[in-house]
Amino acid sequence: MSKLRFAVLPGDYIGPEVMTEALRVLQAAATPAGLELEYQIADVGGAGIDNHGKALPDSTLEVCRSADAILFGSVGGPKWETLPPKDQPERAALLPLRKAFSLFANIRPGLLYSELTDASPLKTERIPDGIDIVCIRELTGGIYFGQPKTTTELENGEFQALDTMVYKTSEIERIAEVAAVTAKARGGRVCSVDKANVLETSVLWRKTVTAYFAKHHPELELSHMYVDNAAMQLARDPNQFDVLFTENMFGDILSDEMAVICGSLGMMSSASLGTGNNSHGHPFGLYEPAGGTAPDIAGKGVANPCAQILSGAMMLRYSFGQNELAAKIEAAVKKTVTADGLRTGDIAFGRNPVGTTAMADAIIANL
Ligand code: NAD
Ligand code: IPM
Ligand code: MN
Repeated sequence: MSKLRFAVLPGDYIGPEVMTEALRVLQAAATPAGLELEYQIADVGGAGIDNHGKALPDSTLEVCRSADAILFGSVGGPKWETLPPKDQPERAALLPLRKAFSLFANIRPGLLYSELTDASPLKTERIPDGIDIVCIRELTGGIYFGQPKTTTELENGEFQALDTMVYKTSEIERIAEVAAVTAKARGGRVCSVDKANVLETSVLWRKTVTAYFAKHHPELELSHMYVDNAAMQLARDPNQFDVLFTENMFGDILSDEMAVICGSLGMMSSASLGTGNNSHGHPFGLYEPAGGTAPDIAGKGVANPCAQILSGAMMLRYSFGQNELAAKIEAAVKKTVTADGLRTGDIAFGRNPVGTTAMADAIIANL
């Protein structure tokens, strides 16, 4: 029996709630396929702080290093917001994890099933066939990681804070390659999003992307768009995009917008891939919902588990090469929220909502 070894980092608030359901679905899918799940659960984020005094405990990092992939929940929330910013879960656990494994390529599918268009804030007549786009976000560079990053007190007693946005050609080229490969498997169109009318990093981004595509992928249709316009165009006509490709912070913001026009953050999964391969010869990756810990609904059993379940499916596809099994889980999720009409509160809109566990039960039944 083939073994799939991965680390499970549930995190905080709804993290553990949706992770429990994702593991049940993965187990139900894997066993009949003759696959054994060998996963180790470890604390991260607030749970790391509470149980080990550190958002990313050394023991957790070890568990990740010995695994072939990481299934991640989400971290952070009000309980730890009074800590010094550098020690809070997001900056002390998630960002260092992305950096430690060089997970520079974040893939976020913006998929809205045509049967679910009523859950989108967009008018159904603008998206009669649903939405099918993908965001490729650079994840280990830009203003998130650039140095210096400081807060200082000025002579007059006021404070000054500084973040640095920085990109190198090589960082832009490697993510451009991911965007190109993604587009080749889809509609062949890449829209690179930047702010080249203002930012030096964006000027370099646009120049580098243009040259890279001309040299390596001339058959693809490359366009460029300023980020403010992209935010507007997404809300106006999302399907004008095929692959939306951008730097770290723009991708963070645009992908939340993509999530809501596709129904809810509770539906959007993601894969973060690096340069290295795992013991299966596939990319090592971290798989997590695009959304956060949703403290407003945590502990009530109402969170949508689909983003976490679909992140598990992405893990099967990218890090374990289990394409059929991934597709099977994706089809079960789709059938559950469309044909069966089961909706958690975030996508219910007038229907009777079901809870987190009931949703996962139905997905398992549909496998
Ligand atoms: P959030 O994504 O947690 O929540 C935004 C809204 O979306 C909330 O109304 C929430 O209820 C809803 N939502 C999100 N996921 C849902 C789900 N699965 N089912 C139903 N509804 C869902 O964003 P926020 O409130 O800005 O952040 C809360 C905390 O999460 C913060 O500490 C933030 O830093 C953290 N965060 C962590 C990650 C991560 O670990 N990857 C990502 C984003 C935010
Ligand atoms: C995301 C999150 C993170 C980010 C935060 C929690 C650090 O919003 O994964 O989208 O900004 O990358
Ligand atoms: Mn985000």
